[in-house]
Amino acid sequence: MDANTPLPHLGGLTATEFLRDYWQKKPLLVRNAFPELAYRLNDEDLKELAQEESVEARIVLEQGKTPWELRRGPFAPKDFKALPKTHWTLLVQAVDHYLPALSDYLDHFAFLPNWRIDDIMISYAVEGGSVGPHYDQYDVFLIQGFGNRRWQLGQHCDEQSPRVAGTPLRILQQIDAHFDEIVNPGDLLYVPPGMAHCGVAQNECTTYSVGFRAPALTHLLERIVDAALEAAGSSRLFADPAREPVAHPAALSEADLESLRAQVLTLLDDRATLRHAIAPFLSEPKYDDYEPQGEELSLEEIREALAAGATLRRDPASRCLYSLQDDQPAELFINGQKEWFPPTLAAFVKLLADRRRLTADELAPWLSDQDALHWLADQMASGFWFLEADEEDA
Ligand code: SIN
Ligand code: CO
Repeated sequence: MDANTPLPHLGGLTATEFLRDYWQKKPLLVRNAFPELAYRLNDEDLKELAQEESVEARIVLEQGKTPWELRRGPFAPKDFKALPKTHWTLLVQAVDHYLPALSDYLDHFAFLPNWRIDDIMISYAVEGGSVGPHYDQYDVFLIQGFGNRRWQLGQHCDEQSPRVAGTPLRILQQIDAHFDEIVNPGDLLYVPPGMAHCGVAQNECTTYSVGFRAPALTHLLERIVDAALEAAGSSRLFADPAREPVAHPAALSEADLESLRAQVLTLLDDRATLRHAIAPFLSEPKYDDYEPQGEELSLEEIREALAAGATLRRDPASRCLYSLQDDQPAELFINGQKEWFPPTLAAFVKLLADRRRLTADELAPWLSDQDALHWLADQMASGFWFLEADEEDA
């Protein structure tokens, strides 16, 4: 993706301009950004997904057993029948994991690294449905499906912002709206982290949330400390060959404190250790018990399927990331584990990992390379990539 090409789904901003002026800073409303998403899924599709054991689904009822009652899935058909006519929302997480074609929409945000992307959540609300005024810690692109929603955006919030008592949800007591708009099918609203927001369904509607994630720095620190301890062993001791005489032997001097700090930080401040700790961590999947289902295929079967019009898709629920050396992948991590590849396949790994979906034509230069196909077949057996039949045949 060219960082300086105007992007229609960002209202004509380039990726560079959007990141500079809006990302993590201020909201952006783009009318009619994704018109084709409007009727992509209906309430029945979402209710079906919400009945599956492995799917994370919630219902929020404004006036339930408590104010802003939260019900967790999986749900049974009778649970939906028992709901009131208005003022509730069904939210289904990670729909892109279950409908791989939906994950293609994430390509519109490919100017951000995969490790920052969380999932596509879809909500279905009846008239008056809302999850209440709240703030999220993460950035979100809210894309309106069918129907209309009134969005109010307000103040910047934090842990201290007053919240409504008696509900398991983190509902804000008030929203000081500086933005108040009704969105229509296909409209996109970007909301930066920490900004109060509240979206109320004006009629039956769906909303697609392209959500982001950011690692907690304390979690990163834990991993880095573990890796640094492993790399250093226990033999490195504090050293002071340049010591000056002290006047107060009981004092911990500023100079010693500084020297201790500097020596400890050298353990942490090592590129190789940092990469070793951070890359697998950032490649961890959204659901930590996730295990992709692979398929064992022969090289011939892979070639034949591609020749028949199949495309190769990266598993949308797996997260993959590579570290770089001289602009080529040096190490590949998928779902928290290092995946070996022959160094001669670095360019192939780059192509596979960067793209969600590849056609036979795009793969053509590699199809006669036995090493490349063998490696791919192994990866497919692990479930990280799979073949998808030509849509017309599907
Ligand atoms: C919704 O889809 O109803 C809520 C999304 C959000 O506020 O983050
Ligand atoms: Co929100």
